[in-house]
Amino acid sequence: MKIGILGVGHLAGYLVPGLLREPAFELLLSPRNAEKARALSERHDLPVAPDAETLVRRSEVVLLAVHPAKAADAVEGLPWRAGQTLVSLCAGVPLDSLAAAQPAALARAMPITAASIGESPTSLWPDLPAARQVLAPLGPVIALPGEAAFETATVAAAAYGWLQGLIGALAEWETQAGLPPETARALIAQTTRAAAAIVQARPEASVEALTRDVCTPGGITELGLDHLERAEAFGPWREACDAVLARLEGGG
Ligand SMILES: NC(=O)c1ccc[n+]([C@@H]2O[C@H](COP(=O)([O-])OP(=O)(O)OC[C@H]3O[C@@H](n4cnc5c(N)ncnc54)[C@H](OP(=O)(O)O)[C@@H]3O)[C@@H](O)[C@H]2O)c1
Repeated sequence: MKIGILGVGHLAGYLVPGLLREPAFELLLSPRNAEKARALSERHDLPVAPDAETLVRRSEVVLLAVHPAKAADAVEGLPWRAGQTLVSLCAGVPLDSLAAAQPAALARAMPITAASIGESPTSLWPDLPAARQVLAPLGPVIALPGEAAFETATVAAAAYGWLQGLIGALAEWETQAGLPPETARALIAQTTRAAAAIVQARPEASVEALTRDVCTPGGITELGLDHLERAEAFGPWREACDAVLARLEGGG
C-alpha cells in the first residue's frame, strides 16, 4: 500500500519506524521543512515527494500530521480523489474542517509516540478499513463510535505524557533514596507496565477490585494509597482531563 505523510515533524519521526514494521507499506514524505524531511528520508531511506500535489496523487492513504491550526489549509487545493483515504492525526480538528479533501474518504486517528515500537493504542473514527490497515502496525487500533467519543479518547493521548511524568517522579524519588538511576528507572517503568498488564489480563474484575486486592489490610500499599486519597491526589488528574477535553472541543 502507498502511504503519504503530509507533515513530517515530531510525530512523523515516530510514525515512520512503526509503519515500516509492515513490509508491504511504501512510504512517501512531504517536502515542507526540507531539513526535517531530508533527515527522516536519510534515516529510513525513504523518498521525499517534490510537492504536496505529487504526494497526494501517488498515495492511496495520506496521513495528515501538521499543526492543528494548519490542517485545513494543508489539505486545500490538492488533487484528492474517490477511493483514497485521508487520515487526520491532528488533535482537536473536526472532520468537517477537512471537507476540502473530499471525495477522499476522511477519518481521524490519534497515535502516540509508542507507535514507533508498535505499542500505540490508536483511537480511530470512523472505522474505515484502509485507515485501520495503515494504523495496525502502530499498535492496537481502538475504534470510536462518533466524533465526541473520539475527542474524549484523545484525552488518553495526553495522559500518556502525564504517566511518563509520574514514572519520572517515582524514579527520581527512588534515586534520591539511594538506588542507581538506571535501576530506579527500569524498576518503575516495569512496575507501571505490570500494573497496566494485570488490568488488561483481568477484564472480569473492576480496577477498583484489583486495587483492593493488592492492599493487604494494614500493609504498605494501603498506607500509601490512604495517604494519596487523603491528599486528594487523583482530583488534579481528573481536572487535567477536563481541561484537555475542553481544549479539544474548542478546536485543538
Ligand atoms: N507530537 C505528538 O506526539 C503527537 C501525537 C498525536 C498527534 N499529534 C498531532 O500531529 C500533528 C503534528 O504534530 P507534531 O508534533 O509532529 O508537529 P510538528 O513537529 O510541528 O510537525 C509538523 C510538520 O508539518 C509541516 N507542515 C506545516 N504546514 C504544512 C503543509 N501545509 N503541508 C505539509 N507540511 C506542513 C511543518 O513544517 P514547518 O516546520 O515548515 O511549518 C512540520 O514539519 C499535530 O496536529 C498534533 O496534534 C502529535
